[in-house]
Amino acid sequence: MEEIDLKNYSTDGKTQHLSTEEDINTKLSKIIGEKFVKYRKLWNDANDMKLVTEYPLFLHLDMNQECNYKCPHCIIGHKSLVNEIYGDEVYLDFNDYKKIIDEASQYNCPSLSPQGYNEPFLNKKLHEYISYANKKGFIDIMLNNNGSAINKKRSQELLDSGLTRLRFSLDATTPEVYSKVRVGSIHLDKVKRNIDDFLDLKEKGNYKLPIVGVSFCKMKANEHQMDDFIKEWKDKVDIVSIQRYVPPTPKKAEYQEYYASDQFSLEPVNEFACVQPFQRVMVRNESITPCCVSFNKDLTLGSIKNMTIHEAWHSDKMNEIREIHRKGEYYKNKTCKDCVEAIYPEDLS
Ligand SMILES: C[S@@+](CC[C@H](N)C(=O)[O-])C[C@H]1O[C@@H](n2cnc3c(N)ncnc32)[C@H](O)[C@@H]1O
Repeated sequence: MEEIDLKNYSTDGKTQHLSTEEDINTKLSKIIGEKFVKYRKLWNDANDMKLVTEYPLFLHLDMNQECNYKCPHCIIGHKSLVNEIYGDEVYLDFNDYKKIIDEASQYNCPSLSPQGYNEPFLNKKLHEYISYANKKGFIDIMLNNNGSAINKKRSQELLDSGLTRLRFSLDATTPEVYSKVRVGSIHLDKVKRNIDDFLDLKEKGNYKLPIVGVSFCKMKANEHQMDDFIKEWKDKVDIVSIQRYVPPTPKKAEYQEYYASDQFSLEPVNEFACVQPFQRVMVRNESITPCCVSFNKDLTLGSIKNMTIHEAWHSDKMNEIREIHRKGEYYKNKTCKDCVEAIYPEDLS
């Protein structure tokens, strides 16, 4: 990466967050106050694997597998893979969602992403989902979106919903590269107008939240645009995120064409410990899992139909996974080994 003077941090090693001002969590602490400071302290202790909280600090809820784009690098762009890897699609409807949020609320769970790989704005009631969690005490609610399905009305709904972080995924600086990496997309200029409209409404309404970011998944097809992307956005938004490519299955050699040139390697990984099982659970197709990777079915802890999130969090299987990572022995679990080797061939931080 060319030297550009920016603050740089990561919460899981997969994504680097860059900002021109102070660290974004310091900024959020000033806006949200003491309870945010306390939550981030717990988050840091959990990330250091010094702490297993009573309840996950973060819920990652995959509501469905719907997207209006067919990005070649994203699992949703490959419908047959979704069915093969995830199994039958099950939507998390508002009742299931409410049940999880209500349980989480009893434990003061602070953070939530009501979305997996889907496009969240295809759900016309999205702002109601966010408002519900906000009213139930969540203080850090985040979303990624592709910027195609948001308009001024929905921007306003979102500004009033209690959302904390909103990220627009762009992955390109020019329409040519954009249409290659975001197949089925609307024109990049229109997406940029939607972002400008959102930022405009936020400024005119004097809203401090959500903080706004743009993201760039660095791959072979767009890596040459990464520095320009950072320069283009660093002064317009709060945060610019650079993500590592994650293959949809562990057969990494089959996805070699997508990896950025400095990411693909068949060399063994020396050391890695995954912090996700200390932060979160993910719910996807009713299954509760300790992490977000798409090929984690073997790690399933149970179903939301017959297990609470609290039970899953303290289950033997979850404790075992945490123990493996605490000892730095990721290779003892087949799925963790596959994931680490596919995503973290070397330390690029
Ligand atoms: C999967 S999308 C889902 C949300 C929404 N549809 C969007 O475009 O932001 C969220 C982010 O993940 C990135 N992404 C998609 N596939 C990925 C992959 N295989 N590896 C790493 N990031 C990926 C996208 O580029 C985007 O920045």
